[in-house]
Amino acid sequence: MNNFQNLCIYFILSFTYSFVICQDIPDARYEHTSALINDKLYFFGGATQTTNTSNEVFYIDLSSTFDILTSPFKKVSVGMPVGVNLATCVSSPDNSTIFLIGGRMTSTSTAVYKFDPISLQWTIPIIDGFNNSFINRNEFDTVIDSKGKSYIFGGTDTKTGITIGNDQLFYEMNLFDTASMTWSTLTLPTDVLPRIDYTATLLPTGFIIYLGGETRLTPSSANTKPSFNDILIFDTKFLSWSNKTASGITVQPRYGHSAVLSKGGNIIIFGGASGFAQVYPDLAVLNTNTWMWSVPSNSTVNVPPSLIHHTANLYKIYMIIAFGRKTSQLVVRPFNYSNNIYIFNTETYSWVSSFNEVSQGTPTNSDGAATNKGDLSTDNGNSLTYKIILYIVISIGCIAFLSSLVVCYKKYYKNRTKIEKNLMSDVNDLHDKERYSNRVV
Ligand SMILES: *[C@@H]1O[C@H](CO)[C@@H](O)[C@H](O)[C@H]1NC(C)=O
Ligand SMILES: *[C@@H]1O[C@H](CO)[C@@H](O)[C@H](O)[C@H]1NC(C)=O
Ligand SMILES: *[C@@H]1O[C@H](CO)[C@@H](O)[C@H](O)[C@H]1NC(C)=O
Ligand SMILES: *[C@@H]1O[C@H](CO)[C@@H](O)[C@H](O)[C@H]1NC(C)=O
Ligand SMILES: *[C@@H]1O[C@H](CO)[C@@H](O)[C@H](O)[C@H]1NC(C)=O
Ligand SMILES: *[C@@H]1O[C@H](CO)[C@@H](O)[C@H](O)[C@H]1NC(C)=O
Repeated sequence: MNNFQNLCIYFILSFTYSFVICQDIPDARYEHTSALINDKLYFFGGATQTTNTSNEVFYIDLSSTFDILTSPFKKVSVGMPVGVNLATCVSSPDNSTIFLIGGRMTSTSTAVYKFDPISLQWTIPIIDGFNNSFINRNEFDTVIDSKGKSYIFGGTDTKTGITIGNDQLFYEMNLFDTASMTWSTLTLPTDVLPRIDYTATLLPTGFIIYLGGETRLTPSSANTKPSFNDILIFDTKFLSWSNKTASGITVQPRYGHSAVLSKGGNIIIFGGASGFAQVYPDLAVLNTNTWMWSVPSNSTVNVPPSLIHHTANLYKIYMIIAFGRKTSQLVVRPFNYSNNIYIFNTETYSWVSSFNEVSQGTPTNSDGAATNKGDLSTDNGNSLTYKIILYIVISIGCIAFLSSLVVCYKKYYKNRTKIEKNLMSDVNDLHDKERYSNRVV
């Protein structure tokens, strides 16, 4: 083996060592979308510092433990066929497929893509009755029921770079049945206003709870924020609308927040903003039996920053927050984006530092019935072990990297004299050739 090959191998080895830890760390982003399939939580697209429409796909493997201080993301080798932000996605009830619906896409040939997480294939499904004017619909939320019927309320046709006012909100409820691959549209009754950037939460009773976001009192008026005490409800059984008045603590109106449904009919909301500014409280819970808002935790341990256009998914008892744009009371530019995850234990109502498989109890059967209460001390204990292991691995990586640098430098230094010598002889060759050719011409 010659010195050059040695040099290459040293470089490859040292680079592999130093990149093993961080190769999949995604760019910070917001306006992405997420979906759970079995033990994997997938993330699609979003806007980063360098692109408004990423086509990247990442996932977190929830079957193993991880710590909020280390990046648990893995990049899916196949990106989406389009870049997209402000889209939604839903998983089919059998967990075989994710449907990416709407959003600001870099291609406007359709608004629905189908992703097979096993084969990593992206396809454009043929949907009976699909209305092409839905293309570029964005800033809505989608829920899917156990039969595979998804519900898409309102939304806008805003594009990046278009000023508000040159867009419209849609007075529609679109029904996309992923089982029969059919699309249909209901017009809103006159007492229901369309919304954008709200959250939709499907209750086991078949009611969809719409919270927050923005609306317009008339099609041409400015955006206003509905009160979090005015709860808009859609009944998926009778395709009818109703509303409820909530009470309890004041939840500042907001858009771009997240919502998950936890045990006992509690909807946990997080984040969002008013204009560009942070809203209070960051975290609140709506009990859908009593229609009372409360703040279940004022802990400051492991708490995320205030975020907007992040995602939240409930996996077993954990609400997993990912990415988002950081908000603050005083709006400061440039904006900061997050590529972190944060974990909220919805049983102890506390932010925890590690996602701990053990604390979920026995590995669930497909019915998911057996879950123990999360144990905070286990969470923290494990996170410490995890951190120690991580630091050891990082240290080994660093030592390997540094030592290979030293070795490489030595080799390089030795080689350089040789290369210089070779170069000199090459130059001499060249001169010879020139002289030779000169002679010929
Ligand atoms: C699909 O995955 C979700 C999320 O982990 C899980 O709750 C659900 O039970 C799974 N459904 C099936 C049919 O396996
Ligand atoms: C993203 O869109 C905004 C307009 O909404 C624009 O100002 C900005 O330059 C875009 N960023 C990139 C990286 O394209
Ligand atoms: C398609 O949607 C547009 C806008 O929402 C609506 O005006 C139009 O009537 C729809 N077309 C059909 C065939 O339903
Ligand atoms: C919501 O409540 C208001 C006031 O009680 C009522 O006027 C309106 O018709 C209700 N809307 C729906 C969709 O039920
Ligand atoms: C957290 O603080 C809010 C506002 O001060 C209060 O209403 C709420 O009861 C507190 N929650 C807990 C769990 O202490
Ligand atoms: C973004 O981060 C910088 C540097 O840490 C900070 O000065 C600035 O206030 C942050 N901006 C926001 C909106 O959080």
